[in-house]
Amino acid sequence: MRPFFVIGTRPEIIKMAPLLWYCDKMEIDYFFLHTGQHYSQFMSDSFFKDMSIRSPDKNLSIGSGTQAEQTARAMIGIEKELMEDQPDVVLVQGDTNAVLSAAIAAAKLHIPVGHVEAGLRSYDIRMPEEHNRRLTDHVSQFLFAPTKKSAEILRSENVWGEIHITGNTIIDAMEDRLKIAKKRPLPYIIKDLKSFVLLTMHRAENVDDKETLTGIVEGVLSLDRNIVFPIHPRTIKRLNEFNLIDRFTSRGSVHLIEPIGYLDFLNIMSRSEFILTDSGGIQEEATAPSMNKKVFVMRTSTERPEAVDSGHATVVGVDPNRFPRIILEEVKKGLVSERKCPYGNGRAAERIMQILLNRL
Ligand code: UD1
Ligand code: UDP
Repeated sequence: MRPFFVIGTRPEIIKMAPLLWYCDKMEIDYFFLHTGQHYSQFMSDSFFKDMSIRSPDKNLSIGSGTQAEQTARAMIGIEKELMEDQPDVVLVQGDTNAVLSAAIAAAKLHIPVGHVEAGLRSYDIRMPEEHNRRLTDHVSQFLFAPTKKSAEILRSENVWGEIHITGNTIIDAMEDRLKIAKKRPLPYIIKDLKSFVLLTMHRAENVDDKETLTGIVEGVLSLDRNIVFPIHPRTIKRLNEFNLIDRFTSRGSVHLIEPIGYLDFLNIMSRSEFILTDSGGIQEEATAPSMNKKVFVMRTSTERPEAVDSGHATVVGVDPNRFPRIILEEVKKGLVSERKCPYGNGRAAERIMQILLNRL
């Protein structure tokens, strides 16, 4: 079996890595394509080293652009590579534009698509990701649902592909990398901080709207805590555009830094008091047994209800008059407790690859 892996952004590199580790271990030959949607050193290349995977065989360098520009450029490039490589299966992970582009290009060439992390739904149609994951699920032959709940969603939508419950590869990645991360020196940004909250945000519906972003800034400041904020390039662009940088940093408690590599990020996450985020992957990482952190989700919906049910995540919205209050009330009640990880036992990649080896 010769798989063809497609990635385009930071989280896909992290979540696809365990599948590449398995291929390397089993000496399975594969093609590895990067669409180049993420291209800055700290959003792309640094992750190949941190995840101990090889550099992509091909980078399409599609760069930034509108939704259609990114999707179309990637589709054209992927189709060309697929026609040359003739793989047995195309593997995509998650819900980015890279995922949709590869899925459509492959399906029309009659190459089976395997969708890793299938069946997630936020039911928020403002999100480009919601369209990407729905459309991809409906052209995939192999649907690797992380949980029973995501498998049920797929069944209820009558997808035609095979549904397999596998767990989420983020748990494989995190459990493996955290051990390495903990042996490293502490990232400089947290060396002198006794206690801090980790913040990340980049969702288009949060940061592209001035009023929403201003509200989030005010709400975060009202928490009155040290905040470590590795800032996504989309977000720094908007904070500058909306003249919010000075306000955000005015009290000296918000420590803005560039996005950081995975190992340093895990180190920071594991030492944080709690996490405030609109990220998808971070909601899952917080549930890994070796992490077990409380995560407050600054969104009005989540496609990860399992993390809410397990007690790791609370969806707090983006209203500055409401979300800080919910957070502070939960903090008062206490953040540490025994919780069960809903996303598997860290062997999702092995399960996915074995299913493919049996079926192809
Ligand atoms: C994309 C994904 C999102 C995912 C996120 C992970 C889609 C629709 N969105 O969102 O699902 O959660 O990646 O982080 O696929 N930029 C840089 N350097 C980079 C990449 C981006 O400076 O390496 C800046 C550019 O100004 C760009 C902006 O960030 O316009 C947004 O990048 P883009 O890839 O379009 O979307 P993300 O917000 O990163
Ligand atoms: N992450 C990282 N460095 C950072 C911020 C995030 O390594 O500065 C990791 C994080 O641990 C998670 C992934 O990037 O695994 C999440 O990416 P992001 O939030 O950009 O995307 P999403 O998961 O929302 O699609």
